[in-house]
Amino acid sequence: MCGIVGYCGPKDATDVLLDTLAKLEYRGYDSAGIAVFENNKIRVEKSQGKLSCLIEKIKTDGKPTGHCGIGHTRWATHGEPSDINSHPHGNKRVSIVHNGIIENYKQLKEFLSGQGYAFESQTDTEAVAKLLDYYYDGDPLETIARVLGEIEGSYALGIVFRDFPGRVYSVRKDSPLIIGIGKGENFIASDVSAILQYTRDYYLLEQDEIACVEDNRVRVYDVHKNPVEKELQAATWDVDAAQKGGYEHFMLKEIYEQPTAVRTTITPRITEGMPDFDECGLTDEKLAAYNKIFIVACGTAMHAGMVGKYVIEKLARTEVTVDMASEFRYRDPLITDKDLVILISQSGETADTKEALRISKELGADTLAFVNVKGSSIAREADMVMYTHAGPEISVASTKAFSVQIAMMYMLAFKLAYAKKKITKEVCAAYIAELENIPEALENTLMCKDTCQYVASKIMNADSLLYIGRGLDYALSMEGSLKLKEISYIHSESYAAGELKHGTISLVTEQMPVIAVVTQHDIMEKTISNIKEVKARGAKVVLVCAKDVEIENEAVDYIVRIPVIMDALMPMLAVVPLQLIAYYTAVLRGNDVDQPRNLAKSVTVE
Ligand code: F6R
Repeated sequence: MCGIVGYCGPKDATDVLLDTLAKLEYRGYDSAGIAVFENNKIRVEKSQGKLSCLIEKIKTDGKPTGHCGIGHTRWATHGEPSDINSHPHGNKRVSIVHNGIIENYKQLKEFLSGQGYAFESQTDTEAVAKLLDYYYDGDPLETIARVLGEIEGSYALGIVFRDFPGRVYSVRKDSPLIIGIGKGENFIASDVSAILQYTRDYYLLEQDEIACVEDNRVRVYDVHKNPVEKELQAATWDVDAAQKGGYEHFMLKEIYEQPTAVRTTITPRITEGMPDFDECGLTDEKLAAYNKIFIVACGTAMHAGMVGKYVIEKLARTEVTVDMASEFRYRDPLITDKDLVILISQSGETADTKEALRISKELGADTLAFVNVKGSSIAREADMVMYTHAGPEISVASTKAFSVQIAMMYMLAFKLAYAKKKITKEVCAAYIAELENIPEALENTLMCKDTCQYVASKIMNADSLLYIGRGLDYALSMEGSLKLKEISYIHSESYAAGELKHGTISLVTEQMPVIAVVTQHDIMEKTISNIKEVKARGAKVVLVCAKDVEIENEAVDYIVRIPVIMDALMPMLAVVPLQLIAYYTAVLRGNDVDQPRNLAKSVTVE
């Protein structure tokens, strides 16, 4: 949440800052701002609203001209979105941008007020800016180190001092930050995708390391001001991956990228037809020895975990508990050193998931992370990591990340079932072969696009919807419902179809469409009965089902049919129409699909 950038180099700093901020807008878009050294003074421009509002403001005010500066795009935590609460914060001497939360800001404000400082914003960040000013003694490094000793919480900071034009200082704890290394120019950014068009080389800043960035050198220090040697990393994502590539929205592009994303994720993990997790040291012996499995994640990633639970329990006969990370961290989970905890995260920076990882490690469990962003905190802190290879996911609503997450869950389920001797090598290989067919099946599934668009036109004016399903279809209906509400702003709920009669069915009227997911043949008839029950109460029914599902015409209003593959793997396909229905509904309602209100992609605060 919040994106920060910084630039030192020969180019026009305002252009570079605005350009790199545009790549980080997915992290927050309540306000934006920059601070640029202009004639050895710090000039700040900031504005409530999206980056486009800042660009307009700069057109009116005149563009700051300089070659060094910092920038910010905000997802508001402390203080409403407003000009005054926008970053950068500070004064003529020091200016900062911040991603994270300063937990002791009230005490700091109280202390600084006593020292004569007046505060104008409601932000926690302003306390850090003023504290830097308070301790500033002409030595930026010393000042930053001193301030680090007094602030509590999470932060990635970009800092400029008027006395040091041409330098951007930077430090981080529990919020991501990279230092981009170019030729005669250097950068800071919350995420490497922001700087890909300038350079692929970067350093990962570790906890409480302080960087001093200039155009032709970067120095990094630990919190005791000792120099630190950094290892150069190279980004593997290409520039095009972070562009819309002719699609109207990133979300649609990312939905269409799913066949490739799945192929790229599974292929390197298959050796002689069997799942191969050697890259993270997860051997069959190790896997077979685990007692219980916990899967912890948030939102869409948690739904991927639910799919994992159904498949692992069915095939490997091993107990799996799925938790929302925000609940897990406070529920004193019964985990031992004989258990495996799997953390799933696209960004690898989700605060609750990160904390769940730390708790699991403290309890002695082995931790395995499925993460999309290379070098992110969760990837670095877990005992074992397997990267999903979805490429950058820019749209706030997660789509291709979900598909690769469940692909990894399947690989793990097959491997565990084989390791625990619940399936033979032949059966395991047959499952893997079916998984290898998924990319092609996904291409075919995408052909349901027009039907989904039509369905969207039929539900777009509803005030509320129900999603129903059983087993794996229930897990999928949860994901479908989340996707719809987050981008269309239509309320929806997902219900286990058999549970409806225990209360929720009283909501069903002609005004409440029901989207039913039916892909599991063994329980199909049961869900079809539930469909008839809602139909009898006037609901318009949209059925997302396998091509071979038979149902009377009068029981449903609209049908989206998808290819038939092994039941266990059907979620890999069924998610596509659910994503497309949500996408087109949001488009038809005129919403900002890629940047829905109140949301941000990377939830780095609790
Ligand atoms: C929904 C969505 C969120 C994320 C959740 C976890 O479309 O994107 O629910 O899935 O915030 O994020 P990661 O996977 O980055 O930990």
